[in-house]
Amino acid sequence: MAENERYIALYRRFRPETFDEVLGQEHVVRVLKHQIQTGSVGHAYLFSGTRGTGKTTMARLLAKGVNCLMGGDGPVPPSGVLRPCGICANCIAVKNGALVDVIEIDAASNNGVEDVRDLRDSIIYPPAAARKKVFIIDEVHMFSKAAFNALLKTLEEPPEHILFILCTTEPGKLPQTILSRCLKFDFRRVPMARIAEGIAGICAKIGIAITDDAAALIAANADGSVRDGLSILEQCVQAGEQTITREFVLEIVGSPGDESIAELTGHVASGDAAAALVRLDAMLADGMDEKRIMDDWIEWLRSALLIKFVADPERILNRSAENIAAIAKQGAAYETAFINEAIYTLAKLRNEARWSSSVRILFEMAIIEMSERKKDN
Ligand SMILES: Nc1ncnc2c1ncn2[C@@H]1O[C@H](COP(=O)(O)OP(=O)(O)O)[C@@H](O)[C@H]1O
Ligand SMILES: [Mg+2]
Ligand SMILES: [Zn+2]
Repeated sequence: MAENERYIALYRRFRPETFDEVLGQEHVVRVLKHQIQTGSVGHAYLFSGTRGTGKTTMARLLAKGVNCLMGGDGPVPPSGVLRPCGICANCIAVKNGALVDVIEIDAASNNGVEDVRDLRDSIIYPPAAARKKVFIIDEVHMFSKAAFNALLKTLEEPPEHILFILCTTEPGKLPQTILSRCLKFDFRRVPMARIAEGIAGICAKIGIAITDDAAALIAANADGSVRDGLSILEQCVQAGEQTITREFVLEIVGSPGDESIAELTGHVASGDAAAALVRLDAMLADGMDEKRIMDDWIEWLRSALLIKFVADPERILNRSAENIAAIAKQGAAYETAFINEAIYTLAKLRNEARWSSSVRILFEMAIIEMSERKKDN
């Protein structure tokens, strides 16, 4: 591998080219595969969900799928042939952004009225080179009211040769009139194990060794976003390490990780200040930053608190299902009052730490205070 080849962002180099390469999102893949194979693709789709979970990727797969040349040019390929193939002229052209009939609009980069007007003009004409003209509109919630109105008009009477794919992280900001005209798919956070597998696979492809626990730690920090996972991997790769280890990942992410935080909480909750201080010392020795530990600890406690009260915590918390399950299990042992007080103490500490040059000792005092309070109980 050429040395400089490494520096093309991994998330660009490794965008799935076929459905089988997609991690997670099986509920979307199953339906789209079926629709493409049977020629029953709709006119408008809405892909919603957290960033980095595969919305744009899936939109391009669908665009390729309806235009893939594999199995002939007819609407339905012979059974056994899977579209998109990823290797025919049309698939390659979509991959390179070179198929004139697949048009990507980024609603975030302008308010979109002009684009939508152009779009309304352009949908009148049949596709130039492909079977279907596909409009992929990213971050569609950023459209202005006028742009939505223009879009709505085209969605009301969509011509046969047109396919709209709307992507958004905030479906709640879309008008009901648009929502009701789309086939909706909610993209889920990708399970940790799948991200870890994907990361290990990419490392194998680029000839870099990675330990299982390092891949798992990257996946844990990605919190369900494959793209975030790849960004962390990218930083590890760029640091030039030949083997990526767990210790090295810890250095890169600079975060204590949930296990350390859970341990710290456990010691404090059982009134064992000594054990908590030793744990903190080990974390700092690992190169973690005091303020980062405070932030992560507060966030962990907040999660533990919300999980106790909210039926569907995944909606509010920026965490994967596995993370939430682990915190729920650990947090169940703690009373609400303890969690509340700990958050209060740490939040106050975090504020003081901003202005202090002796952050560590303030941190240690807070840990002793929390532990002692627990002991008195
Ligand atoms: N489900 C997934 N499976 C495999 N790779 C993914 C997945 N989701 C995201 N990625 C990786 O992250 C990159 C960005 O994903 P993208 O589809 O643009 O996410 P979104 O549009 O949801 O923000 C992709 O190029 C790919 O490398
Ligand atoms: Mg996207
Ligand atoms: Zn193809």
